[in-house]
Amino acid sequence: MVFIRVTISGVSKDYRTVWMKGNSVFMINQPMIPHKFEVVEFECYRDTARAISEMVVRGAGAIGAAGGYALAQAALEAPDDGFLEFVREAEQVINGTRPTAQDLFYATHRVMESVCEVEDVNGARKAAVDEAQRIADENVHAGEMIGKYGVDLIRDKMRVLTHCNAGWLAFVDWGSAIAPVYAAKRCGRNVFVYVDETRPRCQGARLTAWELCNEGVNHAVIADNASGYYMRKGNVDIVIVGADRVACNGDVANKVGTYEKAVLAHENGIPFYVAAPVSTFDLSCRSGDDIPIEERCEDEVLSMFGWSSELSRMVNVRVAPEGSHALNPAFDVTPAKYIKGIITDAGIVKADKKAIGKLF
Ligand code: MRU
Repeated sequence: MVFIRVTISGVSKDYRTVWMKGNSVFMINQPMIPHKFEVVEFECYRDTARAISEMVVRGAGAIGAAGGYALAQAALEAPDDGFLEFVREAEQVINGTRPTAQDLFYATHRVMESVCEVEDVNGARKAAVDEAQRIADENVHAGEMIGKYGVDLIRDKMRVLTHCNAGWLAFVDWGSAIAPVYAAKRCGRNVFVYVDETRPRCQGARLTAWELCNEGVNHAVIADNASGYYMRKGNVDIVIVGADRVACNGDVANKVGTYEKAVLAHENGIPFYVAAPVSTFDLSCRSGDDIPIEERCEDEVLSMFGWSSELSRMVNVRVAPEGSHALNPAFDVTPAKYIKGIITDAGIVKADKKAIGKLF
């Protein structure tokens, strides 16, 4: 397995995006990337849940692993008396953090089931931690498999366009949309990536670009509204994005702006692929209309967050007039008809009900 390799002052070390040791959950502090690399520790489930909603950890796969760990922390914190009630309440708190990311509910459901299967409280605590670790390990494996299945879509000298961050930092390792790029690079193929900056939180400009620098992949960050320009010029060979939730008819919720990339790709005859593990599929959603879309606070749109070299710290800079308000949907839905295929950890499938049904 290949883990996130970060080189600081000439020293290389491998990391996962999120992990648990003892009673604590550790995360790479994503809002500080690319300006500062630091790991933060959360000692109780409520703090881990807050870190998920404040996007210290983000990206569906990483959110899922963090949510599973948070529930395992709750099982460790719960009193012997009223153990199950405490863990059930914690599950509600954790599930309330990021409403669109299906992997969150997938993970907390699995940890909850493992708790309920064991009668004695200490056995249930151990089962919760073991299950959360298994979910994180499976997420790493899923990313690696997505890389294997997707690698042949990327031939030498291809130019890939991606939106948001669906790489290492969006998973426990490897990623989804970017995993085939990493796999192609490791096969010696020359790949170029157009990285949408992804306003308002700039996951593309900050996180995907940082990952690609670390992996030595050629890339350029482009303004979100520049992708149509490059597609129409014939400079983009394939679009690959991740997913926060896939409905059973193949509609996909992903970072806001994905839908317009899909329509533009369709208009310009460019294949548009989604990469997502089976854990991101939600068969209870008949179509994208059933997927809840998270609305985040307006400040994310009204201002920009970045590094001040003068102050040597992150600062918030207001962009819009004081009197303006903003709307901030975090995701949008891309209809299945625009998706050429979904690269899963079980192979590439068509974005339709029949093909998706066969995965389960
Ligand atoms: O709001 P975020 O940063 O959690 O959104 C992330 C995305 O939309 C990713 O593209 C998505 O999670 C797919 S990668 C696992």
